[in-house]
Amino acid sequence: MLRVHDLTRRFGRLMALDHVSFEISAGTIHGLIGPNGSGKTTFFNLVTGFLPANEGKVFWDGRDVTGLPPHRISRLGLARTFQNTSNYARLTVRENLVIASRNHIESSALARMLHLRSARSEEARHGRSADALLERFGMRDLADVQAAQLPGGTQKILGVAIALSTNPRLVMLDEPLAGLNTGEKAQLMTILRGLCADGLTLLLIEHDMKAIMQACDRITVLSYGTLLAEGTPEEISRDPATIKAYLGTEVA
Ligand SMILES: Nc1ncnc2c1ncn2[C@@H]1O[C@H](COP(=O)(O)OP(=O)(O)OP(=O)(O)O)[C@@H](O)[C@H]1O
Ligand SMILES: [Mg+2]
Repeated sequence: MLRVHDLTRRFGRLMALDHVSFEISAGTIHGLIGPNGSGKTTFFNLVTGFLPANEGKVFWDGRDVTGLPPHRISRLGLARTFQNTSNYARLTVRENLVIASRNHIESSALARMLHLRSARSEEARHGRSADALLERFGMRDLADVQAAQLPGGTQKILGVAIALSTNPRLVMLDEPLAGLNTGEKAQLMTILRGLCADGLTLLLIEHDMKAIMQACDRITVLSYGTLLAEGTPEEISRDPATIKAYLGTEVA
């Protein structure tokens, strides 16, 4: 589904990502782990068009999408969340979801004038998709609450719902569990597993090793921008290089 080949990004003399190649198969939960500064977020930025790559290629369903701008990537069915919460603080939860869905498939102003009825039915569709997400994320009671008023953990969960409002096939989540309490973590992981069962593919950056090991089908490990290891959670938890660079004695 997604394949990167020799993906490379430098910041001055720093190699943030150094000829990284791997593949994510459809229908899987794929983990991307590694120490702070190992290039995980940079990987997301390169794949989703937020940063240009210095070298290497990104393939989506076999098609070369390297260098496409973020909105084109998003239209292909690839969505992401950000490490820091991002939503419209002054809008309500439901408004955030409607806007995210609307930005995705924007009919032009002229089209709206010529086809008022279709624009209106489109609007209704965005509303219905927002309501479905509210239901799925257990946020129906929060629909009319301003995003800024939500606790930090709930804002992060809203960020995931916003990413899903573009109806993606692959969602890349940057530390979705950070800042969540135990109950919220369990809630979000249950939702994510349910979405996967419905055919969604997930790429998960996460430092919570317990969650990663439980949820992922495959894991890729980065260290100093290079690919250190790849395999099943079992293989990764036993991999000497990964233990040395990242896991320490925690999982070993
Ligand atoms: N825009 C930028 N300009 C300069 N250096 C950057 C930039 N973005 C990232 N870096 C550097 O590139 C390296 C990789 O950063 P990145 O954010 O991808 O790491 P990460 O694996 O996501 O880390 P963390 O787990 O802390 O989120 C780091 O050394 C970081 O300081
Ligand atoms: Mg990061």
